[in-house]
Amino acid sequence: MSSPFRPSPQNNDTDLNERTSLLPGPSTSTSAVSQLDNLPQQEQMGRPSVSASTYLQQSLFSDLAGGMAQLGLLVAMLQLWWVLYKHPAGLFSWHPALQSCAIIGFAEGVLLLQPPPKNQAVKQKGLTLHQVFQFTALPVILAGSSVIIYNKAIHAAKHITTWHALFGLITLSLLLLQIIFGAFVVYSPLTKIFGGDSQAKAAWKYHRITGYLTLSFLFATPLLALDSDWVHNNSSFAERLVIGSGLGVTALGVLTRISLGKLGVRRT
Ligand code: HEM
Repeated sequence: MSSPFRPSPQNNDTDLNERTSLLPGPSTSTSAVSQLDNLPQQEQMGRPSVSASTYLQQSLFSDLAGGMAQLGLLVAMLQLWWVLYKHPAGLFSWHPALQSCAIIGFAEGVLLLQPPPKNQAVKQKGLTLHQVFQFTALPVILAGSSVIIYNKAIHAAKHITTWHALFGLITLSLLLLQIIFGAFVVYSPLTKIFGGDSQAKAAWKYHRITGYLTLSFLFATPLLALDSDWVHNNSSFAERLVIGSGLGVTALGVLTRISLGKLGVRRT
């Protein structure tokens, strides 16, 4: 297996892209991947090259899978919020309400980088937006988790008794590790841990791989919540099916938009 910090002869293009991926620096690739790369030339030259709303429109809805991912998320969340609205449960309601908002934030933060733009100025915008989404969703998911832990504590209920609870804790741990890892890859002088800025850029590949692992847990956790007593007692089978299918469609949309080359896996 080739070193992540050194371009291998067969994988030259991928590694070169990886070194510049999402981070400012000279562009090396010529192949077009994203609609964002087709912006007028003058917009590609200086900064800011593209507004946040243009970037989001073109990245989030750039293909059918992107549109399906958005639709799935919208349908799942509207259905969940309808259930929460119909069955107010005091402090507990804040748990699914906050967690669902966090899921939207984290998912959009990943979807907006698919496919990663080639153009450096546009990449920089994507990186900024990615950080805004992930850093906003983090306190939301921490608040939602604190609510359920506190709610259980004041009712003297046992902690971590279900698969959902266990996956929830794993998800939180992965998210924290992922954000710390991301900070080390992006921010100087933290990048010194990799030996400098350019070596840190090459570690983006690993941030992507662990990011998709984290996202898998982020989707599996609410799916497991559908099997909880509270959800069973307060929703119909059809409602749970809509929530589960919506999340499933979104997960599939994210999956099909993954650039395998960016993960170091080459298509044959
Ligand atoms: C990724 C998002 C989520 C995370 C990280 C998460 C995390 C957690 C954690 C850690 C617990 C256990 C607390 C303890 O045992 O002290 C828990 C419990 C619970 N959660 Fe979530 N949750 C998420 C989303 C949801 C959603 C969307 C719903 C509702 C549809 C939900 C419903 C519940 C219920 C009913 C409990 C209590 C029963 C149990 O422990 O399984 N959660 N959650």
